[in-house]
Amino acid sequence: MAPLLEVEDLKVAFDTPRGTVRAVDGISFSVEAGRTLGLVGESGSGKSVTSLAVMGLHRGAAVTGSIRLHGQELNGLGEKELGTVRGRRAAMIFQDPLSSLHPFYTVGEQIAEHYRVHFKANRKAGRARAVEMLAEVGIPEPARRVDEYPHQFSGGMRQRVMIAMALACEPDLLIADEPTTALDVTVQAQILDLIARIQQERGLGVVMITHDLGVVARVAHEVLVMYGGRAAEQAPVDRLFAQPAHPYTRGLLDSLPRLDDTDDAPLRAIPGSPPSLIAPAPGCSFAPRCARTTAASAEEHARCLAERPVLGPLAPGHQAACHLPLVPEGVL
Ligand SMILES: Nc1ncnc2c1ncn2[C@@H]1O[C@H](COP(=O)(O)OP(=O)(O)OP(=O)(O)O)[C@@H](O)[C@H]1O
Ligand SMILES: [Mg+2]
Repeated sequence: MAPLLEVEDLKVAFDTPRGTVRAVDGISFSVEAGRTLGLVGESGSGKSVTSLAVMGLHRGAAVTGSIRLHGQELNGLGEKELGTVRGRRAAMIFQDPLSSLHPFYTVGEQIAEHYRVHFKANRKAGRARAVEMLAEVGIPEPARRVDEYPHQFSGGMRQRVMIAMALACEPDLLIADEPTTALDVTVQAQILDLIARIQQERGLGVVMITHDLGVVARVAHEVLVMYGGRAAEQAPVDRLFAQPAHPYTRGLLDSLPRLDDTDDAPLRAIPGSPPSLIAPAPGCSFAPRCARTTAASAEEHARCLAERPVLGPLAPGHQAACHLPLVPEGVL
């Protein structure tokens, strides 16, 4: 059976006065029904641009490659056809909940909006659906709160409203862009549990975008690590944590806070800055920050700087784009 979502060699470029920004430069991944793909990488690595392109919301960008949902090609579809796909079959929770909730409409009106269009439902049926969805995402007194406005909700409750909005039309695919970043850990755990429960009930395929590997460990089945608009590593989640092959992934794992950290321990960030997306260096874009490149022989070092690594298989489902992977190719 074909996967729910198949993305092949996706490229997204923006023309800017400074030059062409290659925000996403050849990403491929797939998501099966009932599974979660974690999309991780530091700020600016192309996570949001990837997800917006999948949803056809890449205003003004040049998008190439294939985006198939249930086998149907979405890249190149007109706005009207995309409108049917969005909300009905694929839904997105945006990175910034306040900007995607309208301050002048009640949450009920906003949850019901797409539902009413897609199911040709009247106002009363739309409101009933909104109440039902608010209850499903665990908002107390949904019949009263449905008529309130976004500013009357706390941050965590607004995130729940966003989830209710995204799921009101029963989509098959949910793309959640940092759905818990601004929330405290307890609320974050509640939101992730909520998405997981709905996923189990409905076989939803989920793309969970985050820069938080703790979230990935909790919810993802597969992981795609992005660096500078490209895939650095792709692996099943247990494998990624147990045997990261790309030094960048290793760096991300090392920057996770540990249980034995004292409060004043410095955060272990990866030194250096992200690569240029306008004039990328010819070799590996991580090489200037890579400890393995620095420690390598002159010959290997030169190769990292000159030749762009392509994704190579290391084990079933595990690939890394690195000349000096931490797991030697072919050994496992
Ligand atoms: N409309 C645009 N025009 C030009 N460049 C853009 C545009 N939108 C995004 N970019 C660039 O594309 C790159 C990827 O951005 P993106 O928002 O996908 O990053 P991200 O991985 O989601 O980061 P964050 O973790 O901060 O949300 C960034 O360098 C960004 O500046
Ligand atoms: Mg983003």
